[in-house]
Amino acid sequence: MAITRTVFITGGARRIGMAAAKYLHASGYNIIITYNKSGLEAKSLSKRLNKLRPNSFATIKASFTSKKICSLIYKKAIKIFGRVDVLINNASKFYPTKIANITEKSWFDIIDTNLKVPLFLSKEFYPELKKRKGSIINIIDIHIDPPLKDHIIYNISKAGLLALTKTLAKDLAPNVRVNGVSPGAIMWPEADISNTKKKKEILSRIALRRSGEPNDIAKAILFLIQDAGYVTGQNINIDGGRKLNM
Ligand SMILES: NC(=O)c1ccc[n+]([C@@H]2O[C@H](COP(=O)([O-])OP(=O)(O)OC[C@H]3O[C@@H](n4cnc5c(N)ncnc54)[C@H](OP(=O)(O)O)[C@@H]3O)[C@@H](O)[C@H]2O)c1
Repeated sequence: MAITRTVFITGGARRIGMAAAKYLHASGYNIIITYNKSGLEAKSLSKRLNKLRPNSFATIKASFTSKKICSLIYKKAIKIFGRVDVLINNASKFYPTKIANITEKSWFDIIDTNLKVPLFLSKEFYPELKKRKGSIINIIDIHIDPPLKDHIIYNISKAGLLALTKTLAKDLAPNVRVNGVSPGAIMWPEADISNTKKKKEILSRIALRRSGEPNDIAKAILFLIQDAGYVTGQNINIDGGRKLNM
């Protein structure tokens, strides 16, 4: 019987994480996602995907600010399908933190979710990924260099995630490949969704003159998982050429 590989995605109930979950599921993988506040979305996705292929999709509720969450998540995840082949660190916190308003609360909130959890999940999943010759994908951001104005903590968290990607690619080789995918303007932040002036300004600087689709990220992820056996320590910008004009 053919083996069905399992992909684990953090923050997979909505937006880009959900698109990746659906796309990889359609490509034949079993999927486990974590969700925190999006319980209804997670439930509805689970219903839809398990209807398409019974016992192929599962969810784990997890808040990344709680202690020992990564070892708990791993213990739950491995019980579901008996294996995990790919870890995708997608969940993220994104909001401005101007220097005058920085608090320890926002530091821990953003750094824990965007950087600490990807590191400790990698630690927990590593023995299993090593056994499966698997891989890790970290979802970063084109804005780490040059950084996004007034987003100090977010910039630090994503720059750290790139450093983590490269470090883990070295330390976990040759058994586990570790790569990054950096989205440009794919889905507007919900807080900015009606700011047309800002959107127009961003679009004017994108070489392809349009925003991307969540599936553009999913396709890059699938390439890194499936067809990039000789690629590790890389970060692919999926940005329609936005980086040419930054
Ligand atoms: N959207 C873009 O165009 C864009 C651009 C550049 C980079 N990115 C990167 O691409 C990835 C996906 O982007 P997105 O816009 O789809 O992300 P998002 O909607 O901002 O966040 C994804 C999920 O992260 C989960 N999450 C956040 N904080 C959490 C916490 N403390 N504990 C547990 N889960 C938490 C949330 O789950 P719940 O909803 O279940 O609470 C949320 O649905 C992110 O890493 C982002 O930084 C996106």
